[in-house]
Amino acid sequence: MSKISVETPAAGELLQTELCGIKLATPIFAASGTFGFGEEFADFVDLKRLGGVMVKCTTLKPRRGNDGVRIAETPSGMLNCIGLENPGVEKFLSDILPRIKDRMTVVVNISGSSVEDYGTLAKMLDTDGVAAIELNVSCPNVKDGGIIFGTDETQAAKVTDVAKRSTSKPVIVKLSPNVTDITKIALAVESAGADALSLINTLMGMEINIDTWRPTLGNVTGGLSGGAIKPVALRMVWQTAQVVKIPIVGMGGIRSARDAIEFLLAGASAVAVGTANFADPSITMTIADDLETYLRQRGLKNVSELVGKLKT
Ligand SMILES: Cc1cc2nc3c(=O)[nH]c(=O)nc-3n(C[C@H](O)[C@H](O)[C@H](O)COP(=O)(O)O)c2cc1C
Repeated sequence: MSKISVETPAAGELLQTELCGIKLATPIFAASGTFGFGEEFADFVDLKRLGGVMVKCTTLKPRRGNDGVRIAETPSGMLNCIGLENPGVEKFLSDILPRIKDRMTVVVNISGSSVEDYGTLAKMLDTDGVAAIELNVSCPNVKDGGIIFGTDETQAAKVTDVAKRSTSKPVIVKLSPNVTDITKIALAVESAGADALSLINTLMGMEINIDTWRPTLGNVTGGLSGGAIKPVALRMVWQTAQVVKIPIVGMGGIRSARDAIEFLLAGASAVAVGTANFADPSITMTIADDLETYLRQRGLKNVSELVGKLKT
């Protein structure tokens, strides 16, 4: 049996890291909209072992979401057009946050229909129990879901600036892949004061039912997520990491530690897992275990040693 060196990091230490001053147990987050408010996954996941939970998008007023069919399975992924269904910020603050705040690191994903909405939401959420605010400027599934702010550099910078001035919490801006050059938006929001970026949100797609000749989804189009989008997401994280100085939370199709490692090597400081949680609700823990094993096998002392180490 091989002797364990006294310098071998203790279990857990290998994965400990930080993002915008927030201490993370692991660099693995749950992505917004795929993990409810975290508590729904408590039977499957040690919530404290996640870097954090990016909870379902919160808006100023409650939203019932889109009508009709809202999800469809696709090869290696899914389409969704949930339409930002959520109970609204007041209910989140009064009923949900008090329940979840001591159970996990809470990142609140917010979406507005105007620049001012983002300021109001960021201010209301500048409260105990919120670790950071993630600006969803990239929802492709509702007309007022923020995508206009995420596909225009000036608008994206305005939203970031207003949110930054309204809260003391770190502001993470979630970028849309539905643009020609994601680095332009990334640079604009970095200049406007973003503390970190998360990318990518879903890619716009659609499916048609050939029996009815109608779109499968009630909203006609939806957001594509899951394994199918991983190469696109990885490319965008890599391109963005080349040009910004702020940290990146990489996401898009992550289903294994191997996928997560690719994002870290491409320059992400942390990763988020979305659609894969639907297929296996404990997948984030498997990814954490396997990432730890990989680091140990490579003789690395901390996960941060992987970040941006892609050799080209
Ligand atoms: C059903 C569903 C709901 C989502 N809801 C939100 C949301 O409310 N806010 C947001 O910023 N992203 C939302 N997303 C996007 C995910 O957080 C993530 O960025 C995207 O799905 C890519 O990661 P994945 O391929 O691992 O799922 C949603 C995705 C899905 C599949």
